[in-house]
Amino acid sequence: MSTEEKKFETQNLPTKTYFWPLKRYQDLYNSALTDSEGFWAKHSDVLSWEKPWEKVLDWNPPYARWFVGGKLNMSYQCVDRHAKSWRKSKVAIYWEGENGDTQTISYSDLYENVNRYASVLKKLGIGKGDRVTVYLPMIPEMVYILLACNRVGAIHNVIFSGFSSQSIADRVNDSGSKMVVTASGGHRRGKILPLKEIVDEAVKSTPSVEHVLVIKYTGYEVVMDPARDVWAHDMLKDADKYVAPEAMDSTDPLFILYTSGTTGKPKGILHGTGGYGVWACNTLKWAFKPTDESVFWCTADVGWITGHTYVVYAPLALGLTQVIYEGAPDYPSVDRWWEIIDKYGVSIFYTSPTAIRMFMRHGEELPAKHNLGTLEMLGSVGEPINPEAWEWYYKNIGHENCPISDTWWQTETGGFMITPCPGIQSFPLKPGSATLPLPGVDPVVVDAEGKELPANEIGFIAIRKPWPGIMLGIYNGDELYKKTYWSRFPGWYCPGDFSMKDSDGYLWLLGRADEVIKVAGHRISTAELEHALVGHSSVAEAAVASRPDEVKGEAIVVFVTLKKDVEASADVKRELTHHLRTAIGTIATPEEIIFVEKLPKTRSGKIMRRLLKAVANEVPIGDTTTLDDETSVNEARAAFDELL
Ligand code: PRX
Repeated sequence: MSTEEKKFETQNLPTKTYFWPLKRYQDLYNSALTDSEGFWAKHSDVLSWEKPWEKVLDWNPPYARWFVGGKLNMSYQCVDRHAKSWRKSKVAIYWEGENGDTQTISYSDLYENVNRYASVLKKLGIGKGDRVTVYLPMIPEMVYILLACNRVGAIHNVIFSGFSSQSIADRVNDSGSKMVVTASGGHRRGKILPLKEIVDEAVKSTPSVEHVLVIKYTGYEVVMDPARDVWAHDMLKDADKYVAPEAMDSTDPLFILYTSGTTGKPKGILHGTGGYGVWACNTLKWAFKPTDESVFWCTADVGWITGHTYVVYAPLALGLTQVIYEGAPDYPSVDRWWEIIDKYGVSIFYTSPTAIRMFMRHGEELPAKHNLGTLEMLGSVGEPINPEAWEWYYKNIGHENCPISDTWWQTETGGFMITPCPGIQSFPLKPGSATLPLPGVDPVVVDAEGKELPANEIGFIAIRKPWPGIMLGIYNGDELYKKTYWSRFPGWYCPGDFSMKDSDGYLWLLGRADEVIKVAGHRISTAELEHALVGHSSVAEAAVASRPDEVKGEAIVVFVTLKKDVEASADVKRELTHHLRTAIGTIATPEEIIFVEKLPKTRSGKIMRRLLKAVANEVPIGDTTTLDDETSVNEARAAFDELL
């Protein structure tokens, strides 16, 4: 027996065991570290290359360029190669609308639609390198459009359909998009989201937009501007059946996706083609062990990175069958998701801790009403999963038969980084730990100076080597890229999370170490919220903190000082909530708004966030000797008490 096997024999084993000695995983992990070139050369064959690459990695810190010299097209990976094979009649997508409409889309249907949409894009003047903003509900056209963008070499920029006109305008302008693709409406909890109207407002201030391409959906009436707006169904009538996929360089951009950081403005994370594609496919295989019989369901919206990588690119490039559901998890009833698993025989189910906690509140009777016996693998993403939610998920959804891959990663990493990987081999799981790094990921837990910490101590996580899924950079933001991710621990990628490695080498990802809040797994920065708040005519100063929320993980608590002539009132609170939703979107809805006379600041004028957080959380506030005016804290606390 090897030492490793012995270690796992003797250690205090966690309760959930999918247990083989860590041999295959370790061999693979070690070979990715010691022979990175050989390892990735082998694993790059998950994609079909139009021209083989010449060099695995060009590492010019902090820029990594993967599979240099290679040419490929991602829409080819996701449709052509399946439509030309036995998979042509295989179901690519079981689509279910919130209102009960359904579509079954085979790989040859997908091929046909992607080609026709690519032809529409071309006819509207979209070509290689152009940016296309996409603001769509979770309808099949979301997939067609993204792959059609790839096909003609355009860079898509998806904006989650909960974001406001202002957020769309900012992202369209930063990306210089030539086109916005939207739908007349989308369904959400029985209501219609007026997507086209929201876009109309946004494009009043986006000079780069030449066309708005509109997909007719929901029957919601919209006003078309004949000089700018185009109905997709009109254009599709004359669309070509085939558009040759543009041969892209492996290092060409595939998409931009805006995400919040510590600055007031979201950053356009730019991902490449070959490296991202290789990472997306391999990570899905490792973490979820899919087969051609699998029915995969990732519940994320394509508006977020999880939907990009694990709804669009990885499952389709691997030729899987997947479910896409348009609506809310609890509409029309809280067992809608379990009904869908039952209906389509879902075998791999991937969702967020927030969703699990929401279901927990409604009790185990609801999932118990449905046959979930087809499930083989479960997954979790977006925020730390508390052991209680993990256990509930394991027991009531997986019926103690399915491993849970708790996947830790980020918009910037392109795909999973730290996760159990039953696709390589099984090993013991610990509820709440994302376990071990995937092959190619070299993490270390360090103190503020970058010194590696011993086991069981909490510090920052850093990644010491580039991996194929790493972003190309920030669109229009070279300096920001260097500063945000590479300046803290030079030469290492700094994700901005707290972490701890336990004595078995398992990693525990413990939440953000910066001013980023995770509301229902969605990322939002305090700076962005504060920036929006001070844009309101009643607000003098604003500071934002978070407070733990039983379902959403974290909730937004806003502290504001009002301008002299403004009276604090419930009306002003309502107005500020509305203002945040208009400036950013629904995810910016605050849980509490607290009026204070002064914000607690240090003598050098910096807002003492620790204090605000303590007030928001009602915990002892610790040392306040550097505080300029202690009364403001007491005041904030008193205002908070009133709300309870
Ligand atoms: O704090 C980590 C948390 O989500 C952040 C990344 O957010 P975003 O770019 O929006 O991507 C979310 C989907 C990949 C991370 O910095 N996070 C994500 N997954 C986990 C997690 N925290 C703990 N455990 C996870 N499994």
